[in-house]
Amino acid sequence: MEGQNKKMIIRNCLVIRVLILFQIFSFFLLIIFPQIIQSEEEKSFTRQRSGQVIFTPHERSDSEPQQVHISLVGKDHMRVSWVTEDKNARSVVEYGTKQGGEYEAKAKGYHTSYNYFMYQSGKIHHVVIGPLKPNTNYFYRCGGLGPEFSFKTPPLNFPIEFVVVGDLGQTEWTTSTLKHVNSKDYDVFLLPGDLSYSDTQQPLWDSFGRLVEPYASRRPWMTTEGNHEIEILPVTEPTGFKAYNARWPNPHKESGSNSNLYYSFELAGTHIVMLGSYADFDDESEQYTWLVDDLAKVDRKKTPWVVVLLHAPWYNTNEAHQGEGESMRKSMEGLLYEARVDLVFAGHVHAYERFTRVYNNNEDPCGPMYVTIGDGGNREGLALSYKKPVSPLSLYREASFGHGRLRIVNETHAHWSWHRNNDNDAFVADGVWIQSLSSFKECWNTQHHNHVHHEEL
Ligand SMILES: [Fe+2]
Repeated sequence: MEGQNKKMIIRNCLVIRVLILFQIFSFFLLIIFPQIIQSEEEKSFTRQRSGQVIFTPHERSDSEPQQVHISLVGKDHMRVSWVTEDKNARSVVEYGTKQGGEYEAKAKGYHTSYNYFMYQSGKIHHVVIGPLKPNTNYFYRCGGLGPEFSFKTPPLNFPIEFVVVGDLGQTEWTTSTLKHVNSKDYDVFLLPGDLSYSDTQQPLWDSFGRLVEPYASRRPWMTTEGNHEIEILPVTEPTGFKAYNARWPNPHKESGSNSNLYYSFELAGTHIVMLGSYADFDDESEQYTWLVDDLAKVDRKKTPWVVVLLHAPWYNTNEAHQGEGESMRKSMEGLLYEARVDLVFAGHVHAYERFTRVYNNNEDPCGPMYVTIGDGGNREGLALSYKKPVSPLSLYREASFGHGRLRIVNETHAHWSWHRNNDNDAFVADGVWIQSLSSFKECWNTQHHNHVHHEEL
């Protein structure tokens, strides 16, 4: 018996060693050939080579905060997130409306950290502060030392302006996109997935945090996950989203969601749903059930605008990523249509495309307007090839880097614009006025009619 046990132990040790060797081998293979984690679809089209990854160095002391960013929590709170190398640094934020270190309030939060293969993260701090007044400048300091930061809270009512940028990455294109974004004021930054393009190289998450800090510490950044947030490794990292969940927590609990991968929030008359393209979405999934409940709670008198963001587009006439959003569309499009969602933003395809109002592949005046805005500036370059002939549903398409702006003027009208990076800041390459479906009487009558019809059946 003892002999058999010994053999078993030796065999188990051998298996573990082989697995570790395989892990090390695949890790270095990914460093040398990152393209092996690309899907077949990604390989099948030509991209214009983008700029190289810019590594943003850490230039403060170990105990000082770095990678500071803020995100909305509930109707009047803000989460402040940052990283310190020093494990003894405190998770506290001092804040107030006066500049220069005279802070009226102080809040304590929590910290986390994670291991990823041979990488050990710094101390990741998250502190929720508030209640905060709307449309007000606040000054704050993290952990009791380091530079003072400031942000402006969003307004309570219209008008409100959102910046929308997908697939951001960290190249010189990213820098130029962010400069353009910053050249005109806005209230909230929305990111429909693919943030750092770390692709398992964890120090790139830190570099990304430092690159975006001047922007993400000033205005709330609200994100949902893309495929580049998954970062699954065989054996050691089987579940995915480790870095994303630790570094970019979303206010999912506040909207009844059990997952950081999908949630909703409301501000200034707008209900925003962040869907998860990489969480289960079939009609028996938690995400589906949550979405049904979330949309049922929407009161269009309180929030006349409903906007959805997700990563893999449901409508796309680019050759890149064809059909990748199709099963999610088939599962959830009916829910969005019934709820009369106004707009759906997606990323993933590295180009800009605006559609008309669509439902089930047909133009429909009561369907959402679809926009692909995956042109933030990542290292993979642009998706240049489009399907021909042009679909009548697709109204504007162009493979250039840029960013979008949604300015909701009032209960009924909003302006969507797309800003190409190589134009001057004032130039709007594409722009359109949109009317909220909440003000389209005929759409609600149709729904009522359908509802009655179902009941009769
Ligand atoms: Fe993507």
